[in-house]
Amino acid sequence: MNLWDPHKAQFLFGTATSAHQTEGNNVLNDWRLWEREGRVPPAADACQHYHRYVEDIALIAELGHNAYRFSIEWSRVEPREGFFSEDALNHYRRVIEELLNRKIQPVITLHHFTNPQWFAEKGGWVHEESVFYFKRYVSKVIETIGRDVCFWITINEPMVYLYRSYIEGIWPPGEKSIGTMAHALRHLIKAHIESYREIHRIYDQKHQQPVWVSIAKNVIEFTPHDDSSWTDRMAVFMRDWFFNRLFLDALSKGFLFFPGMFCESLGSSQTLDFIGVNYYYRQFVRFSGFNNAGIFGQDCPLDDHPLDIRESTQMGWEVFPEGLYTRLMALKHYRRPVMVCENGIATLKDPQRERYIENHLIYLHRAMQDGLIVWGYLYWSLFDNYEWERGYVPRFGLIEIDPPTKERKVRRSAQVFTELCRKYFL
Ligand code: FCB
Repeated sequence: MNLWDPHKAQFLFGTATSAHQTEGNNVLNDWRLWEREGRVPPAADACQHYHRYVEDIALIAELGHNAYRFSIEWSRVEPREGFFSEDALNHYRRVIEELLNRKIQPVITLHHFTNPQWFAEKGGWVHEESVFYFKRYVSKVIETIGRDVCFWITINEPMVYLYRSYIEGIWPPGEKSIGTMAHALRHLIKAHIESYREIHRIYDQKHQQPVWVSIAKNVIEFTPHDDSSWTDRMAVFMRDWFFNRLFLDALSKGFLFFPGMFCESLGSSQTLDFIGVNYYYRQFVRFSGFNNAGIFGQDCPLDDHPLDIRESTQMGWEVFPEGLYTRLMALKHYRRPVMVCENGIATLKDPQRERYIENHLIYLHRAMQDGLIVWGYLYWSLFDNYEWERGYVPRFGLIEIDPPTKERKVRRSAQVFTELCRKYFL
């Protein structure tokens, strides 16, 4: 039995990936529909991780990692409504076994941006039954392959998903409506709560072992463009409330407040056993008017920053390691342990990646010294992989993938990452 004891356990370190970005040939989800319409670059066979997982887990083990976060592709497990694929479930069971045989803790995400086509066709997360469908899928996965997994992430970055899919409209289903977004938000919150209860029920009654459940919450270091402007500061306050806090507040208090739309009790509070955190960058914000969207301000592009930007990445994100410290410390009042579930850099210069990792680990270490309980750190990503609407251009990997041959080449930063984790945390 794979048991994990938070009081005795070793610091977890490793990498994170997601199914659609690495597995290859995920042809039954909503991203594939968008690809066919030419709205996003093709993911094609990605890193071929679905078929090469044994070789990939061997590489993870050689690097000395003791944790690996990956996601289960809902559209593989439930390709048609209510029909569950034994083949897909067996595949993920084998992945879990392979990891456990090598003493690597699986941290498994159940929803990482993609939805089955049948679910999208019914209206996706806006559909009243979406919570029921998601919970039914979660139940099936946990019942059949859950035993021996200690960590589950129900939903990856719900606010990023909602923003891109229902406000910006650059991800499926391509909506641009705050009202529609708010309905999807409410369903995602409920989907987490129902799944949380269901996972614990199954672990108590069937697997009879402890389990820890969370979401992976993307947090951004929002900063006023002009610190002396109260309107810029107000825009930052609004952003921070909406983007960084709303979802976590709802799950910890069991109450959803969304002005003009919802003010409702959610039935359960404290449905986070730990807080999964994804941190990447600082964003300067400028107030843009007293109207609905304006009070959230607008993003300042990198060349319009008031301060000296030391470094940026292939994504156009500022490198700002101090932000990891401040964002983590801002979570302290939730009184939950934290796991950094993503943090990483897209760069063509591997020495820049080494520096990025070291500086972020230094700030992580500082947060721990200042009393925050941190269970682990997972670098994004194991490989260079499919970066959503940006295709294969950004290079996040500790392992380089040669696009035509898919040959794996371990970068020097991968070795450095292991050494640094040993130095600071083990
Ligand atoms: C996060 C996503 C992940 C990846 C990284 C770069 O927002 O969770 O899939 O795209 O950003």
